[in-house]
Amino acid sequence: MSDLMVNPSSMSIGPQAQILPLRPQEYPGEQVRVGVIGYGYWGPNIVRNLHGQKNVQATMVCDKSAAALSRARRAYPGLETVSDPMDILRSPDIDAVAVITPVWTHYELAKMALENGKHVFIEKPFTSNSAQAEELINLAARKKLTIMVDHTFLFTGAVRKIRELTESGALGDLYYYDSLRVNLGLFQHDVSVIWDLAPHDLSIMDHIIKAEPEAVVATGEKHLNGVEDVAFMTIYFPRNVIAHINVNWLSPVKIRTTLIGGQKRMVVWNDLVADEKVRVYDKGVQITSGDGIRDLLVSYRSGDMWAPQIEQLEALQAEMGYFADCIMNSKTPFNDGHAGLRVVRMLEAAEESIRRKGELIRL
Ligand SMILES: NC(=O)c1ccc[n+]([C@@H]2O[C@H](COP(=O)([O-])OP(=O)(O)OC[C@H]3O[C@@H](n4cnc5c(N)ncnc54)[C@H](O)[C@@H]3O)[C@@H](O)[C@H]2O)c1
Repeated sequence: MSDLMVNPSSMSIGPQAQILPLRPQEYPGEQVRVGVIGYGYWGPNIVRNLHGQKNVQATMVCDKSAAALSRARRAYPGLETVSDPMDILRSPDIDAVAVITPVWTHYELAKMALENGKHVFIEKPFTSNSAQAEELINLAARKKLTIMVDHTFLFTGAVRKIRELTESGALGDLYYYDSLRVNLGLFQHDVSVIWDLAPHDLSIMDHIIKAEPEAVVATGEKHLNGVEDVAFMTIYFPRNVIAHINVNWLSPVKIRTTLIGGQKRMVVWNDLVADEKVRVYDKGVQITSGDGIRDLLVSYRSGDMWAPQIEQLEALQAEMGYFADCIMNSKTPFNDGHAGLRVVRMLEAAEESIRRKGELIRL
């Protein structure tokens, strides 16, 4: 049985989400039929989470690797497998295409899917550059088709709880977001560690800070295969909110820890522990000033720590159900092409800043 414990259609959706008017024709089927392109490392997770859902199903899997296809057939004997993406892109029995291939292939495959009238679920990062993302967004709008970018973390119980805490004002005004996302490998051949790991934090920040970033500074170095494998990124937001992301493929240990500081409370999120992933600290600093600078009074508040209940859900299962719900009920997903584009713009700025040895790049 699935460990999904939320009804995706009842999930709170982000500020960018809006209900579009119903299209002339309501969605005709009871299930959205998805063709999945790419069955490497991540694709099997997508196919597994499409299985057993009420409103969505995987009907075909494509991979150019015969070994990948035989793995898919062993896991799902009834599943049709093909090696040419056009078999999925042109199939009249497929409503939506999931693009789970390396980043450099995203734009071409998504463009062909949209041109063939298919909705698109696409991996992070959305595209290799912002011009491609803009083109896909416009194409989808013209064709009245949905794009959803797989910003998986937004569907985890931890991020949903953190968003609830920021939305409710429990943390007060935000001061900073500081994330350490490091491990040994998995090296990607086509993208740097920034394009591989930072999209997770950038999409989470986009979801909880809810402000357009103003500028980016980044530094990084290449040690092994011609792309940065260690990188540090700072993002400036309005109202003195600052974010820092440390991504590294050369760390001896895996760490996934994020600090989020607010004026009232602070959060420590350790994604690698089973219990108490999110801890909220009732700690803070207050400054009261008298007449002059010498009269500044600094007081530290140190209250309780509590670990809120986190929903035990498999993020991808909620996300795939939400994808189908958006298509069937003409909703714009909060992780739509625009959300994907905002992340790609920050990645591009980081890349530019790294090239210029840490210069500030305005967005
Ligand atoms: N959301 C997440 O948490 C998460 C995690 C891992 C990877 N990803 C993303 O998933 C995507 C794939 O990553 P991966 O690690 O699975 O890569 P991978 O290299 O392990 O797998 C990609 C698969 O796509 C196939 N493929 C490539 N081009 C193809 C084409 N034109 N037609 C058919 N098949 C093709 C390859 O044969 C391979 O089997 C990337 O965009 C990555 O950023 C997301």
